[in-house]
This record gives sequence, structure tokens and C-alpha cells, in this order.
Amino acid sequence: MKYINSFFLILSFMIISFETFSDEINLYSARKEHLIKPLTDLFTKDTGIKVNIITAKAAQLHQRILREGENSQADVLLTSDAGNLWRAHNDKLLQSVSSDILDSKIDSKYKDPDNYWFGLSLRARILVYAAERVDKNKLLGYKSLANPEFKGRVLIRSSSNIYNQSLIAHMISKYGLVEAEKWAMGLVKNFARDPAGGDRDQVKALAAGEGDIAIVNSYYVANMMDTDKKNLFDKLRIYFPNDDFMGTHLNISGAAVLKNAPNVNNAIKFIEFLASDEAQYIYANINYEYPVVKEIKIPYILQEFGSYIEDNILTNEYGKLSSEAIKLADRVGWK
Ligand SMILES: [Fe+2]
Repeated sequence: MKYINSFFLILSFMIISFETFSDEINLYSARKEHLIKPLTDLFTKDTGIKVNIITAKAAQLHQRILREGENSQADVLLTSDAGNLWRAHNDKLLQSVSSDILDSKIDSKYKDPDNYWFGLSLRARILVYAAERVDKNKLLGYKSLANPEFKGRVLIRSSSNIYNQSLIAHMISKYGLVEAEKWAMGLVKNFARDPAGGDRDQVKALAAGEGDIAIVNSYYVANMMDTDKKNLFDKLRIYFPNDDFMGTHLNISGAAVLKNAPNVNNAIKFIEFLASDEAQYIYANINYEYPVVKEIKIPYILQEFGSYIEDNILTNEYGKLSSEAIKLADRVGWK
């Protein structure tokens, strides 16, 4: 009898441990909860693994994980921009993941070369321009936006934002530091106003006639087009920057397993799930992004944007050159 009791005691302890420790993950997400909840719900339904979501801005999550150190309960970091993921790896917050599924699903352009992070969606940094004031035949690559013909006409947010830091890093990688700095200097001269607000605000300023060309992420534009902001676009058009030397700048949102993750296997399962066909469709469509898995259908508004030629750079370059990019932006007075 004594043995039977002990047996049940051990068994119930195992069940409790399993429930408490094995069947959950802690997700630190810079992606807003409403964009990720449908996916975590689906994952829980499929696997029984509960997902505890903590959302905050990318930099806040980074600081929190640093602060928590070895005691951190974070399993998965979900964030925008290859630059943010690169920084997390650079601060030794991540662990490398070995996964045949992720290897086969995610192109090497969109992940860390040593599998410390993986892209899950793509966004292009595109131009929106005023059809009445810009000759579309004059539009080329990002480089041409520094030409004197665009003086006082370009709208873009602050260089303190990582989207621009990654774009500048991309320019440095393509053209070298000297040429990239000349470009940035010319671009700043062409600003329609001091950088203010986010990407959406550049589009609003453009529609209000404050400038002629806005440089913004594709999903903001698609998102605005699918809401009551639709009429803003009556006289605006989309252009994917491209010239003989450089294609469109694409960035990612992506995920990584944290170094001190208590639930590593579940964390990997979750990222693999996000790379599955079903999840990729939802992940991209819910925020008007391009799926990282190219076979998946893109959101219908992005289909209307038309095709683009993406640059051949590895997104890992953005983080590597980000501190150079920030210094460059300071030197040319890009606020
Ligand atoms: Fe964004």
C-alpha cells in the first residue's frame, strides 16, 4: 500500500511538473498582441502548449532580457527588423537553433548565418509619391533621392528609428562608407521638413502636400489603404526603388530562442510552427507583409502594389553596420 501511495505521489508530481514547466512558453513580443494572438491560439490548439505573451517595444524587451540575465523566463523573442535581432545576438541574449524545418523553409538571406535568429515576414522600404508632382520616369533607386532635382521634396522619419538605420547600413554595404555618406548628405538636403513622426505620418504629410516623395515601410501603406485612410491615396502612387546597382531594401520581422530559455524545445516548436504554411499565411496577412516562405500567397493589397526587384544583400548586414550607420546619420545631420 505504502508503495502504491508513493507511486501515485510521484506520478502526480510528474503530471504537475509537466503542466507547470513543459507545456508552455514565454513569448517576449515586440509585435503587438493582436497581430500574434491568433497564431499563439492556433499553436496552443495544435500542440497543447500554452503561450504566455509579454509585449513591449523592441528596445524595452532587449533591456528587460539583459536585466533578467540567467533568471530570465523568456523563451522566444519576436521582434521587427534584422537590426534588432542582430543586437540581441550581439549582446549574447540568444542561442543557436538547429532545425531542419527552419533550414528548409527560410532562405539564408533572411536569417542569421549561425541560426541565432530567423526571419518570418518581409517588408519593403518603398516610395510613395504624389502622382501630380513627380514624373515616375524620374524615379530610380534610393541613391537617386539625393539628386538636386528632389530638393525640399523628400519625407522620411528620424534616423533614430531602426528602419532607417538598417537602410543606411544597407547603403554602406552596397556603396562603401564614403559614397553612402555623400548620399545621406544629399538626402538630408532634399528633406521637405525636419523628420517628424512615424512612417504613417510621412504618408499623411505627403497627401497634405508637404512633400512629394515619402520613404516608408510597405505594410504601413497597405494597412492605411485598407482602412478609412484609403482616400488619402487617390493621388498617391507606389514605387519600389531599384536601379542597375541596388534593388529594393527588404527587412524582416523574426524570432529567436533566448539563451536562458527554460523551455527550449517548445520554443523551437513555436518558431517552426510560425514558419509553417498555415501560420505564414496568417502572420503575413494580418499585418500586410510578404511571407518569408515565398510559396505562400501575399496579401491582396500587396499584390496590387505589383512586383519588385529585391536587393541581393543578406539581412544580417544591417546589424553589422548599424553603429556605422548611426554615426554616419549624426555626421550628416539626419535628425
Ligand atoms: Fe513598424
